[in-house]
Amino acid sequence: MISLQPAKNGYLNSLPHLIWLLLLTSPVIGQTKFVANYDENKIPAYELPAILTMQDGTPVSTAQQWREKRRPELMDLFAKQVYGRSPEACPIQSKVISTTDAIQGKALRREVDVTFGGKSDSVTMRLLIYTPKDAKASPAFLTLNFQGNHSIDPDPSISLNSNWMRNRSGITENNLSSEKSRGVAASRWPVELIIDHGFALVTIYYGDIDPDFDDQFKNGVHSALRSEASSIPNEEKWGSIAGWSYGLSRAMDYLQQDNQIDGNRVAVFGHSRLGKTSLWAGASDERFKLVISNNSGCGGAALSRRAIGETIWRINTSFPHWFCDNYPLYNENERDCPVDQHQLIALIAPRAVYVASATEDRWADPKGEFLSALQADEVYRLLGTDGMGGSAPPEKMPQADQAIRSGTIGYHLRTGKHDVTTYDWEQYIAFAKRHL
Ligand code: GCU
Repeated sequence: MISLQPAKNGYLNSLPHLIWLLLLTSPVIGQTKFVANYDENKIPAYELPAILTMQDGTPVSTAQQWREKRRPELMDLFAKQVYGRSPEACPIQSKVISTTDAIQGKALRREVDVTFGGKSDSVTMRLLIYTPKDAKASPAFLTLNFQGNHSIDPDPSISLNSNWMRNRSGITENNLSSEKSRGVAASRWPVELIIDHGFALVTIYYGDIDPDFDDQFKNGVHSALRSEASSIPNEEKWGSIAGWSYGLSRAMDYLQQDNQIDGNRVAVFGHSRLGKTSLWAGASDERFKLVISNNSGCGGAALSRRAIGETIWRINTSFPHWFCDNYPLYNENERDCPVDQHQLIALIAPRAVYVASATEDRWADPKGEFLSALQADEVYRLLGTDGMGGSAPPEKMPQADQAIRSGTIGYHLRTGKHDVTTYDWEQYIAFAKRHL
């Protein structure tokens, strides 16, 4: 469903305008036409929807009003207008596939298959779990990965993934896993550092849950839970981000039964589209005690109304399967969206949240990511936490590599590109030590 709100702007009043509109809305031609704005001076004037005011204008001034009225209202708006509504939780089954020592004997490494689904079908996701060797019930980072569990470490005994995988040039259904792809993403996964600090690492290939291409939801969780989702109106049905989030919650179901993990101390972490996913998972499932968004950008931590770098139109055109079918209503029309992403961060309150940006990641709008986290501060304080720390929120965005992590909302702007680095992990580990 695509609406550009043309009537409002009068685009339909003449034939040339109609042609222009058709060109703009054509995914193929539109892609070549899109020039991202990176100029702060060209950001449209905008007003953010208030976090602490109900849709009907009633102010929210107590923690109870937030909890009982405003939070459910915002959850519902994000579900129906942005990510899509997911079916209820379904039962899981688990099976241990392998157990072995790893990281020079400092860790136990297991592979556990978790299967879930509905009447029609099921999906199986393989959890790769590292736990500190002699610890009982460790706090954990739960994360999705882009290239298969075998990509996070060159260890030849990690099983190769035979599911659909993305290749560098775009979307493909080929299985690109091979011996050569072992450890290709290892720089993003400092497993030893994580273990040395007493944390477990649990990772899952995101394509196990839902392959990341637009196939009208013929596969993955959408297919497996089709009848369970059938009562949800089509325009509100879950997109892939909601599907991956749903998988994270089922992984959490499993972690709560795993006696090597402390199910009350689990952080959900994700990078980029998987950072968008960790935010939605953290908002939807309050069992996650810490939520980390690494360079999540548009549809993640960044404020959509700034329309700088990637925009709602751009993301819906490139990735029509990520969000629900209502979301394109806000293509080039951010101001009519009843929510913006600062409210998503607020939905995580009072649990700890960390938003990270990178200086060269302009596509993800680092400033918009910071402003989102900053705006959520008022809810954190209403709920009795110290928000971004100190007696009042910071007035300015911090310098690069000066992490703000003394409060319940953490933020840093790392020098460098769109990526996950050891610097990022060092901040998350330090923050997690205080909050998990
Ligand atoms: C694209 C997309 C972003 C996304 C990123 C990723 O760049 O436009 O929204 O975050 O891919 O997930 O790698």
